Amino acid sequence: MSLTSPLADPEFYAGDPFALYARLRAEAPVARNDELGFWAVSRHADVITVSRDPETFCSGRGILTMEIGAHYDTPPTMMHTDPPDHTRYRNLVQPGFRPSFMRALEDGIRARTVALVDAIEPGVPVDVVSDLAVPLPLQVISDLLGVPEEEWPRFFRWSEAVIPGATDWPEEERMALSGEMVTYLLAAAADRRAKPRDDIISELGAAEVDGDRLTDAELGMFLVQLLVAGNETTRNMMSGGLLGFADTPGEWEALRSRHLAASTRALPIAIEEMLRWTTPVVAFMRTTTRPVELGGVSLGPDEPVLMLYASANRDESVFGPDAERFDAGRDPNPHVAFGFGPHFCIGAVLARLEGRILLEELLTRFGSIESGGPVVRTASPVIAGVKSAPLVFGVA
Ligand code: HEM
Repeated sequence: MSLTSPLADPEFYAGDPFALYARLRAEAPVARNDELGFWAVSRHADVITVSRDPETFCSGRGILTMEIGAHYDTPPTMMHTDPPDHTRYRNLVQPGFRPSFMRALEDGIRARTVALVDAIEPGVPVDVVSDLAVPLPLQVISDLLGVPEEEWPRFFRWSEAVIPGATDWPEEERMALSGEMVTYLLAAAADRRAKPRDDIISELGAAEVDGDRLTDAELGMFLVQLLVAGNETTRNMMSGGLLGFADTPGEWEALRSRHLAASTRALPIAIEEMLRWTTPVVAFMRTTTRPVELGGVSLGPDEPVLMLYASANRDESVFGPDAERFDAGRDPNPHVAFGFGPHFCIGAVLARLEGRILLEELLTRFGSIESGGPVVRTASPVIAGVKSAPLVFGVA
């Protein structure tokens, strides 16, 4: 057993991992995990160093520890590409995420949010995971992809199936569901190329940079990534963030006062803290391409390096002595919940928009948020998941 041994155990992530992260930052900021064979990077500054240098720390050999030793002839997702391929990919998909296109989604997102928030009964425990955080991002991503509403429960199962540790479903079932998802989205991509509509699939299908376009396979795989990346993460930003309020007396009330006093920055600042606090993506990996020194440790080539975003976001040297406190007024807040550098999350604008609308609708109706029962967390080394979180909302 070494200090990093628990990082190899999925159950560790369903408990409270933060005490170990603090020890790693203090005692062994770049530490070897022998069980799975990677280096764990726990300090904010080192996570930034790794993220911004894809020539030394590449994504092409996997971004999850389950991929250690993998070799890909063609990258399974855009996240598995490095410059110059990544730059090409990113240039082709970026237009689909431009802020004006995302802002046009606002009315639709609000209608979805209002319908869910109106159903919350004050004074009784409500599971914010099943009643808000699961349906909302799924409905938004279904709207974004232009798929019919009745499909979204299937989307939920598909995306659960591909997140390591999200479910205890048998491997064959997970593989079958993931195959179904790929087939569905490849067909949707081919359909929109033939008959474009007003949705992001058509937009991405038509996108062209210097005469270059995404191939059908690239487009299909990107849609798979959108479906998964776009909902598992946003879901946990919402449920984890609301838990932050419920567990920290006074924060909801203080945010409400700032918001009602028409502070335009109050909500954007609070959303950044929900992101920092929750850090929905626990960690992503890179592999060294050459010898390099990191945090005082000499690494050889071909070494998997795991960036613990969840630890970096509690780094006292950046967030101060109260880094372990949920503070919805924290500003500045240079968290790395969306990653950093060339792969910085392409959906950040959308996630922040969904978060803002959710907060607006909740703050208008409810004056308090309190815990309403035990919280169940996911045993996943990738997604900081909340399976159920009963909260009680008090009338304004
Ligand atoms: C709270 C919500 C979200 C969080 C915490 C999050 C987190 C992240 C992180 C950490 C990365 C960096 C990957 C890396 O460096 O290897 C990333 C990339 C990405 N995210 Fe998100 N994400 C969120 C929401 C979304 C949404 C809503 C979408 C799409 C609709 C999305 C799509 C993507 C894509 C496509 C990439 C890959 C970008 C690239 O490789 O250049 N994400 N995200």
